[in-house]
Amino acid sequence: MKTPTAVVTAGPTLEAIDPVRFLSNRSSGKQGYAIAAALRDKGFDVTLVSGPVALDDLAGVTMVRVESALDMLAAVQGALPADVFVAVAAVSDWRPAETAPRKLKLDKAGLTSLALVENPDILKTVSNLAPPRRPHLVVGFAAETHDVAELAREKRLRKGCDWIMANDVSGDAMGGADNAALLITDDGEETFERAAKSEIAARLAARISEAVARTD
Ligand code: CTP
Repeated sequence: MKTPTAVVTAGPTLEAIDPVRFLSNRSSGKQGYAIAAALRDKGFDVTLVSGPVALDDLAGVTMVRVESALDMLAAVQGALPADVFVAVAAVSDWRPAETAPRKLKLDKAGLTSLALVENPDILKTVSNLAPPRRPHLVVGFAAETHDVAELAREKRLRKGCDWIMANDVSGDAMGGADNAALLITDDGEETFERAAKSEIAARLAARISEAVARTD
């Protein structure tokens, strides 16, 4: 049997306003790195496309470090085809319409608003690829504070992914060591009780590994 391949995104993206300022979010990258490591441990050949995080490179994983959503999309496209794509990154939905080449002088420019443009949706783009470019299994993540299952079911259909891991982020999931999740697949739902992110990752990797083995 050939070695299965996986591409995972993790961390935030950083959208430059000028050489010193940016838009970003508080994603730590911990859950995405844990999933990449768990897939590696299940025998996958893993490429981890990571936004800027304070985490070390994972041994035995092909690391691609990026900053912006556009760079993350290009890196993901460069890493495909793969059997599995897992989108864990907290991609910035917006980026500045222009990145100033020199530091903006806000006092002189009198800047009171910032023009933004929408970033591409990496998960949706990969979900909508035509075979054989589309991975056999595309897994998205959803961070919800309320109506977790209902919003995640709707998000799965809207994004076109096969599975979605819904996180309840009403607690301290972002940046914390623990997570609780609901895995929504094409044939049912499974609750992942609150556990260390490494434990959640191991359970998801086991499910992914079983699903990929079935497609062989
Ligand atoms: N995602 C992506 N590219 C984007 C935005 C999101 O790949 N430009 C992926 C994320 O990696 C994650 C899923 O899509 O797998 C999250 O979808 P999103 O619509 O951003 O949901 P939330 O972060 O939960 O936010 P909201 O509910 O506000 O849409």
